[in-house]
Amino acid sequence: MTEQKISIHGVWGSRWTFILAATGSAVGLGNIWKFPYITGENGGGAFVLVYLFCIALIGIPIMMAEVLLGRQGRQSPINTMRELVRETGTHKSWKLLGWVGAIAGFLILTYYSVIAGWSLNYVYEMGSGTFSGKDGQQVGSIFDELLANPKQLLFWHSLFMVMVTVVVAQGVIKGLEKAVRILMPLLFLLLILLVGYALSTDSFGRGFAFLFHVDFSKMTWSAALTALGHAFFTLSLGMGAIMVYGSYMPKKASIGGTVLMVAALDTLVALVAGLAIFPIVFSNGLAPGAGPGLMFITLPHAFGNMGFGQLFGTLFFVLVTFAAWSSAISLIEPAVAWVVERFKVNRGLATVMLCFLAWFVGLGTVFSFNLWAEMTLAGFTVFDGLDFLTANIMLPLSGLFIALYVGWVLPQQRVKSELALSQSVLYQLWRFVLRFLAPLAVLIVFMVPLYEKFAG
Ligand code: PFF
Repeated sequence: MTEQKISIHGVWGSRWTFILAATGSAVGLGNIWKFPYITGENGGGAFVLVYLFCIALIGIPIMMAEVLLGRQGRQSPINTMRELVRETGTHKSWKLLGWVGAIAGFLILTYYSVIAGWSLNYVYEMGSGTFSGKDGQQVGSIFDELLANPKQLLFWHSLFMVMVTVVVAQGVIKGLEKAVRILMPLLFLLLILLVGYALSTDSFGRGFAFLFHVDFSKMTWSAALTALGHAFFTLSLGMGAIMVYGSYMPKKASIGGTVLMVAALDTLVALVAGLAIFPIVFSNGLAPGAGPGLMFITLPHAFGNMGFGQLFGTLFFVLVTFAAWSSAISLIEPAVAWVVERFKVNRGLATVMLCFLAWFVGLGTVFSFNLWAEMTLAGFTVFDGLDFLTANIMLPLSGLFIALYVGWVLPQQRVKSELALSQSVLYQLWRFVLRFLAPLAVLIVFMVPLYEKFAG
């Protein structure tokens, strides 16, 4: 009986723990670092609108499906899928879903940790007052110097991986809950403070218009794929993170309401981060399409030029690091849970081995900003390539198959048993989206730009 399954890794005390952990996983560098910079690269408003549609129409329904699968299996995503396939007699190839997810999570961690390392470095630089009174250009060169220095990047990347190892080795639940409960609201407050600063510049209107004025002439299929991929990335979908957290969720907690709350919080943080960053971009004559350095140039500049900026700036990067930490933990958790189940080793050993491997593969990203900057394949550096492969290919594909599996393959009564509203119109709507709308949308957005890129 599915009702009696209990995860060997534990079950959370309440639905709030799930909300906190899932929000901790969802809110991270994706919201504060990646969303603004890809929005800048893809022209603003129209991209934001497509992204919001992807969250609402594809992300939220698939997130519900992922939690549902996790709670049905109560194991690591790999074994959850294995078990479900066995119990329901569905085709063996569905087991791949768990694998693609765990591998994508692992690959993302390898570069996520390098970017989180930048943030750690900025805690240090902010604290030592490096940015005080500097203009936009000077702040930009400090960032460029960091990227050009492999030793520095390596140091901070290593430190961050150690932080991840320590928490995951102890079990995800301990420690994480408290951190998220206090630090997330603080991070949000500081973002609001930054929006206050942005309001005081002469370019708030321009920043606002850049984010919300929709001009579809700037939209391309490849931008739509980036928006779709980012919807998955930011909600932590398609790689088992939400599935594994769902597997620790108590039976009676409502999936729909919980998921809505997590998605709404996640989207809010991204939009507020955009509202803080773009006015500063314009008031300093910086380019919105500056790329991955956007946040690391605009915000230190703002902090460097405001009252108590050194204090607020240091605190801000501490909080960004925490947000990245709670996300990174969930990137490796599916793989760790699987190794513990499969090889019956203890959690500590499994974590150390996997994190070491992720650290090692992460060296590729470290060097892609300096020593290997010229080494490209089809125009991608190691970092660009990993980002494209995971966010734009693996996550949408995995999301597509999750929708198909829950929508078409998993027996209905299992699905209904997980959802309280199984008689309502909302349920019918969700099912329709999962069966038709989400797969079709993913297929179109996924195929057209790939076709354009490789055949056109
Ligand atoms: N959602 C995280 C962010 O926006 O930074 C990144 C992430 C975490 C992606 C965990 C995937 C994941 F499984």
